[in-house]
Amino acid sequence: MAHLLFLTTAGLLLSANAQPAPSVQAGITAAIKAAANATTLDYTAFVNPFIGTDNFGDVCPGASIPFGMVKFSTDLTGYAPAGYVTDPTQSIRGLSPLHDSGTGSSLGTYGNFEIMPLLCPKGFDTCTTSLAARERLRKLNTDLASPGYFSQTMNNNIRMEATATRRAGLERFTFPKGSKPYFVLDLANDLPNSFAGGSLNIDPTKGQITIGGSWGSSFGPGRFNYQAFACYDLLDGGKQTLSEYGVWTADSFGLDAKGLGQTHLNLTINLIGGVYQSGALFSYEGNPTQVNLRVGVSFVSTDQACANAESEVGSSTFEEIEAQAKALWNEKLSKIEIDVPNTPANVTELLYSSLYRASLTPNNATGETQGLFANTPSFYFDSLYCSWDTFRTFYPLMSLHSPVEFAQIVDSYIDGWRKNGWMPECRANNLPGWTQGGSSGDVIVAHFATHYHNEAAALGIDLEELFSAAWTDSEVNPPEWNIQGRQSNVYKEFGYVPFAVLDVSSTGRQTREGSRTLEYAFEDFAIRQIAQVLDKADDVALFSNRSLSYRNVWDPTVVSDGFSGNCTGFAQKRYSNGKFNFTDPKHCSPVDNVTTECSLQSDNLNGFYESSSWEYSWFAPHDTAHLITLMGGNATFVKRLNHFFSAGFYGAGNEPSFQARPFTPIGYHYANHPAQSVDRVRTVVFENFDITSAGLPGNDDQAAMASLLSFHLLGLYPVPSTTQYLILSPFTPKYTIHNSYLNTSTTITTVGFNPKSVQHTIPAGTAAYVANVTINGVPAASRCHFDFYDVFRVGGNVTIELTSDKTAADDCLGALPESLSTGGFASAR
Ligand SMILES: *[C@@H]1O[C@H](CO)[C@@H](O)[C@H](O)[C@H]1NC(C)=O
Ligand SMILES: *[C@@H]1O[C@H](CO)[C@@H](O)[C@H](O)[C@H]1NC(C)=O
Ligand SMILES: *[C@@H]1O[C@H](CO)[C@@H](O)[C@H](O)[C@H]1NC(C)=O
Ligand SMILES: *[C@@H]1O[C@H](CO)[C@@H](O)[C@H](O)[C@H]1NC(C)=O
Ligand SMILES: *[C@@H]1O[C@H](CO)[C@@H](O)[C@H](O)[C@H]1NC(C)=O
Ligand SMILES: *[C@@H]1O[C@H](CO)[C@@H](O)[C@H](O)[C@H]1NC(C)=O
Ligand SMILES: *[C@@H]1O[C@H](CO)[C@@H](O)[C@H](O)[C@H]1NC(C)=O
Ligand SMILES: *[C@@H]1O[C@H](CO)[C@@H](O)[C@H](O)[C@H]1NC(C)=O
Ligand SMILES: *[C@@H]1O[C@H](CO)[C@@H](O)[C@H](O)[C@H]1NC(C)=O
Ligand SMILES: *[C@@H]1O[C@H](CO)[C@@H](O)[C@H](O)[C@H]1NC(C)=O
Ligand SMILES: *[C@@H]1O[C@H](CO)[C@@H](O)[C@H](O)[C@H]1NC(C)=O
Ligand SMILES: *[C@@H]1O[C@H](CO)[C@@H](O)[C@H](O)[C@H]1NC(C)=O
Repeated sequence: MAHLLFLTTAGLLLSANAQPAPSVQAGITAAIKAAANATTLDYTAFVNPFIGTDNFGDVCPGASIPFGMVKFSTDLTGYAPAGYVTDPTQSIRGLSPLHDSGTGSSLGTYGNFEIMPLLCPKGFDTCTTSLAARERLRKLNTDLASPGYFSQTMNNNIRMEATATRRAGLERFTFPKGSKPYFVLDLANDLPNSFAGGSLNIDPTKGQITIGGSWGSSFGPGRFNYQAFACYDLLDGGKQTLSEYGVWTADSFGLDAKGLGQTHLNLTINLIGGVYQSGALFSYEGNPTQVNLRVGVSFVSTDQACANAESEVGSSTFEEIEAQAKALWNEKLSKIEIDVPNTPANVTELLYSSLYRASLTPNNATGETQGLFANTPSFYFDSLYCSWDTFRTFYPLMSLHSPVEFAQIVDSYIDGWRKNGWMPECRANNLPGWTQGGSSGDVIVAHFATHYHNEAAALGIDLEELFSAAWTDSEVNPPEWNIQGRQSNVYKEFGYVPFAVLDVSSTGRQTREGSRTLEYAFEDFAIRQIAQVLDKADDVALFSNRSLSYRNVWDPTVVSDGFSGNCTGFAQKRYSNGKFNFTDPKHCSPVDNVTTECSLQSDNLNGFYESSSWEYSWFAPHDTAHLITLMGGNATFVKRLNHFFSAGFYGAGNEPSFQARPFTPIGYHYANHPAQSVDRVRTVVFENFDITSAGLPGNDDQAAMASLLSFHLLGLYPVPSTTQYLILSPFTPKYTIHNSYLNTSTTITTVGFNPKSVQHTIPAGTAAYVANVTINGVPAASRCHFDFYDVFRVGGNVTIELTSDKTAADDCLGALPESLSTGGFASAR
């Protein structure tokens, strides 16, 4: 999703003040240089966790392990959905263990159990405990992060550091010499300000504080709450001695009370006047310059939070936990190895930083389940935030190298169907979040089924159940479809989701009729793909047919900018009587300077979610050949695509434009102009991505963008729920993708690679265009696409030979990417 705030001022915060310490980039640059002579590589040294922490990228740079349930980061004031932002005018309110990365919720998500180190020279009663009183600016240019490690220093010279395990971690605080360390621990606050009651207990003998309570969703109905718990061990195994301890309460209307020696708080929701602030306050004897805290988190109980800290951290030191986290990251990052010495340095940094984020979420909360999921024997992942964002490139990237993890997440999707009746669409904070396109989980599980049906049983997935889960999304209308399933009753009746339709049996937000139809249609194609794997001929026919519903919202009479490119025919929302409701196809495009709301909010009337009709009209990834016909043929399709980019309709900052619209910017492939896709991808990458904190064009969306960029750099593009990968021009001369479950390694060599081609505009005469492709010594059937089963499933060597002859290369030589209506996707592999 994009931001809930529709921002036209994104440029204003562009990092005039890059806050990460200059040593972060200097270290990465040095590590990439040193790789030339290294025998073993430390891939974590190439990762810049700060990419996307400015310019509304909403990335969490916090300390985490791959798919960690905890991500320790500071929480800052202002717009900071992931806790941290680089903006130096924002203040730190504390360091906390729970965060999501790359979510567009303007409210922010998690941020519970903040701890804030303080100096209280005048003693306990004078400590600045309330949110507003305790906030502090950072010491400029000292923020640090690397995989598994995070640190920030405040302008009073107190330094905070953290490292993590899956559900626990260690925090280390360094105080100025001679000062008495104080800490505020917050019971009530979270980023979305959603406290709904909880309690806190201090056990001074054990030196332990336990906290728990209920909070609301950051992207879902306010009526649902989740529970969370934490356990803070204060004594560092007896090396630290508590001095004072007590509790406090505060609000923004003058309440600022402290209870020295008190050990309990039990507070409920505050119905007037916002969150009633509260928490613990404690100090240490002997003015130690360093204080270590062990933190465990649980979604089950305080006991489990303490047990998690004990089992995952125990008495390990900060350095030991950090080294363990780093090793886990190296294992993940080394799934894709590139030829570092011969790859442009920025590409190496962009790729490994992207791969890092592509394994940062979703958050593995297995064994930490609540509500309907309590004690489920299945794996459980939190922050499937949202499937509409991640089906396009995130899971396809995972499918190439990590089937075990992918299967666990698929298991969690299927378990959602078992428990809730439909698969999760946007699980956020352990709660159902808002649906965006439809039931995009169908595409995710279909992608798994098409790639791993032979291994599914061994990976713990029952394909029949997987099919039933996806089938239910399409066939069974939930009474309320804002949080799961689809409005399938009227969609099936009319062949599209009608605008202003009488629906007597289900409710939901009456918007997005155009984009919901397009997404439902593609989801039906995904279900067809599963049916095909399972040899269910009737279902293949049914869902193939239904997947063509995208045609039913095509209004061939609508013209927009037609004078310059014959841009006739656009998707439009449509009444149940068949009439279209015209809305300007530019409405909600990046150049629309009139509309302010294109999200779920009430005045979104254009029929398309977070997007314009100009963008969404490219969306039929399974049947582009017919879309080309609707648009008047190859020549007008290409003209229109060029116009789409030159007129500024391409919204790089959000999914509809750049993800799994195989047409933007790789749509040229389908019109038999693959070299033009190569040019376009170079431009898109250089105009939208870089290695700075502002280096993302928008919200990372749980690494949807990171995985998109990874594919662009690797010269590949996935067609979700199929095993087809489009071939482009890699930004690196050589890379290997390891699949340790299949025991395969696939090395892709870019023969004729010229680093000069890696720029915004490929200089004329530079080799960059695909001349031919060879798979394990055999010339490939197409130079425009290949299949997972011929490449990554078997492993081996692929060569992509480049030429500088763009004209000669701008032709798929009769082997276009597949489309349903031209006989594509005819059988399962
Ligand atoms: C790599 O080793 C060679 C030979 O020892 C040396 O000349 C070169 O400077 C080294 N390169 C780097 C980046 O350290
Ligand atoms: C907190 O108080 C409520 C009543 O307001 C009670 O039901 C609950 O058990 C208490 N919780 C704890 C942990 O003491
Ligand atoms: C999630 O956690 C469970 C329990 O520790 C573990 O078995 C599983 O491998 C983890 N999966 C991922 C993807 O982190
Ligand atoms: C889909 O099926 C319906 C009903 O059987 C039929 O009327 C329609 O023509 C089919 N559509 C396509 C595109 O095949
Ligand atoms: C638009 O299409 C008409 C024929 O339908 C053609 O004559 C004209 O040249 C086209 N214009 C452009 C700009 O492509
Ligand atoms: C389209 O819908 C809007 C909102 O209901 C309405 O104001 C407008 O008159 C409709 N336009 C057409 C052409 O039906
Ligand atoms: C809105 O965009 C149009 C077309 O780009 C431009 O002419 C107009 O000046 C813009 N209006 C504002 C208020 O920026
Ligand atoms: C587009 O070009 C391809 C390859 O030449 C051709 O097979 C296809 O029929 C063309 N599409 C249309 C709509 O003309
Ligand atoms: C690498 O990225 C930095 C930051 O965006 C930029 O200043 C520099 O020009 C880039 N270098 C190359 C060779 O592209
Ligand atoms: C991969 O290799 C391991 C160890 O040799 C073996 O146990 C496993 O069955 C292999 N997996 C596949 C899918 O071949
Ligand atoms: C592949 O393309 C390269 C570059 O154009 C060319 O030299 C080579 O002969 C081609 N190989 C085949 C088998 O066509
Ligand atoms: C791939 O190439 C490497 C190095 O040239 C070679 O050792 C290996 O046997 C090749 N693998 C296959 C499957 O052809």
